[in-house]
Amino acid sequence: MASYLHDLDRRRIPRHVAIVMDGNGRWAKQRELPRTKGHEAGERALFDTVEGALEVGVRYLTVYAFSTENWRRPKSEVRFLMNFNRGLLQRRRDELHDRGVRVRFMGRRDWRVPRSVLREMEDAERLTRHNTRMQLVIAFNYGGRTEVVDAVKELLAEHDEGKLGGERITPESISRRLYLPDVPDPDLVIRTSGEMRISNYLIWEAAYAELWFTPVLWPDFNREHLFEAIRDYQKRDRRFGKVIE
Ligand code: IPE
Ligand code: IPE
Ligand code: MG
Repeated sequence: MASYLHDLDRRRIPRHVAIVMDGNGRWAKQRELPRTKGHEAGERALFDTVEGALEVGVRYLTVYAFSTENWRRPKSEVRFLMNFNRGLLQRRRDELHDRGVRVRFMGRRDWRVPRSVLREMEDAERLTRHNTRMQLVIAFNYGGRTEVVDAVKELLAEHDEGKLGGERITPESISRRLYLPDVPDPDLVIRTSGEMRISNYLIWEAAYAELWFTPVLWPDFNREHLFEAIRDYQKRDRRFGKVIE
């Protein structure tokens, strides 16, 4: 496969890339395998993408692993995904740590997430908390609308407790109360599998992100696709509503 690495402008690497890892079920179906085999096959894609992101110097990589809507899937698939993600963290935690990756999570850590999974998440966060090369943010039990609701609830609670002081309500007031307020907004959002929708991913943060879609199913995705997305990103004019002279 041709490598696109050589023609990337190293000064214009997106600081934050966010990915909707979609198409695992269809990948499995094409092979007459159960959907769960597609999720399993996605692990290699994820870690090749992490390697690629490290190679080019992406600072934040956010991946959508489980949405607040994914609880509506069959119980058996939900159970599989919980166990699978727990196992993945166990298997990959040391490797990520060795690479200098800080692992973080965004989403609701509510009663629906099994305790054993929460424990694994906390262990990975604790182990890698001082790493600075790249942050791998795993959106797990994540929904964009829920995140905004949680931020508004926080604002109201602070208001009721008289902690808001004279703070005016602005977009920044919301941004500061999102799950990971220190993480910059994504510059580039990638979605695999040909679906051209956001599916409740980073709806606040991605207000001005560049979007990139590919028909490639997630288990077939690798770092070369990431480089292709970045190459396209580098050709875009990010105007943020302004006029470029
Ligand atoms: C993405 O693949 C993984 C998760 C949502 C957890 P899907 O499971 O959505 O695969 P498709 O979209 O059905 O092919
Ligand atoms: C988005 O994919 C969620 C994840 C990749 C975790 P979905 O497959 O759940 O989204 P829809 O249902 O196609 O919108
Ligand atoms: Mg899907």
